[in-house]
Amino acid sequence: MPVPVLANYYVTYRCNAKCGFCDIWEKPSPMIDLRDAERNLDDLKRLGVRIVDFTGGEPLLHTRLHELLKMAKDRGLRTTVTTNGLLYPKRAKQLQGLVDLLHFSIDAPYPKAHNESRGVDCFAKLMESIEVALQLGERPDLLFTVTNESYPYLDIIYERFSKPNGLTLIINPVFEYEGLGEMLREEVMAKMEAFAKQPYVYLNPAFLALRRKGGNDPEAPVCKAVSTTVVISPFNEIVLPCYHFGLEKLPIGEEGLYALWQSDKVAWHREMEGRHDICRGCTVNCYFEPSFATSPLTPYFWQSLPSKARYAWTKFVLQRLDARRGPKDAVLPDLDDLVAEEERRAAGDGAMVPLPVL
Ligand SMILES: C[S@@+](CC[C@H](N)C(=O)[O-])C[C@H]1O[C@@H](n2cnc3c(N)ncnc32)[C@H](O)[C@@H]1O
Ligand code: SF4
Ligand code: SF4
Repeated sequence: MPVPVLANYYVTYRCNAKCGFCDIWEKPSPMIDLRDAERNLDDLKRLGVRIVDFTGGEPLLHTRLHELLKMAKDRGLRTTVTTNGLLYPKRAKQLQGLVDLLHFSIDAPYPKAHNESRGVDCFAKLMESIEVALQLGERPDLLFTVTNESYPYLDIIYERFSKPNGLTLIINPVFEYEGLGEMLREEVMAKMEAFAKQPYVYLNPAFLALRRKGGNDPEAPVCKAVSTTVVISPFNEIVLPCYHFGLEKLPIGEEGLYALWQSDKVAWHREMEGRHDICRGCTVNCYFEPSFATSPLTPYFWQSLPSKARYAWTKFVLQRLDARRGPKDAVLPDLDDLVAEEERRAAGDGAMVPLPVL
């Protein structure tokens, strides 16, 4: 049986935002129970999982997220959290040092555009989150979900938010599922690719290679969602084969996650991963990142490798050295200036200036 490397642990589906490219916030949901989590983390460790992504919904809505992170770290698991930043300034001290890979989502370098994308007023909190994090010695990545419309923001986000603060800009190509998101145009992908050559920018080029091939092919699947990733829902179920195509949800009962993972049902899902009709054309990054990383016989593995090495060098060498120098003041644009600039741009002709291919 292949060893899963990653767990996507949905601590709740609830969210304090309403992004246009995501529907998770519409789902009613509990918060995960800490006793369930303790057992599951023990079992994830036994299964060989190395990284736990505490996700959602908005993971910071879970008031005991810091305890969950501590439990994971006590078991030698690496942790990752992505947040919209609304609650980060309030929770930052609790979370300090507990998140190995911390990401702040950013959709635009301007308040109106970012808030419209997120469906709530959250840009100012995002700026505050960057300030607070740097003061606490954290080096969060800025995670920019790039769409056909938002790609011209790449250089502004990089020049004004990422580069001056030594923070990695993660280029996250939007993916389509259940009628949300969209397919990226070739022109947009080419520009992302060229842009990603710069320091402190991370893009997995294999994501784009997969899109250019038309996404996952059920006849020759590259998806290894079940082999690589354990998805746990806030209802304490395993979701199979992936969150985005939750064909089956298996309650984690008395037998526990470890035993359930050895079951025939999970084995069937492993055999069928990437082979369903709905898997045709799929490009959901969350599952292809670990799929590529564990498939050395595919070109995707080799395409991913240099970008991953660069990311690791920045995260574990450059940023660690930087963090050792102590608290750092964020270098950020003034909020009022951004509001004025955004208004000026809108008054121009409403169109964004296309990004030159570098
Ligand atoms: C699902 S959210 C959960 C964490 C948190 N609520 C947030 O938004 O940061 C994780 C990341 O997935 C991104 N995301 C959501 N829908 C997406 C889509 N259709 N394509 C690509 N990324 C997406 C979000 O922008 C966010 O950066
Ligand atoms: S903040 Fe995150 S979970 Fe919430 S709606 Fe946006 S992408 Fe989805
Ligand atoms: S191809 Fe996509 S929909 Fe199918 S199992 Fe993989 S991640 Fe899920």
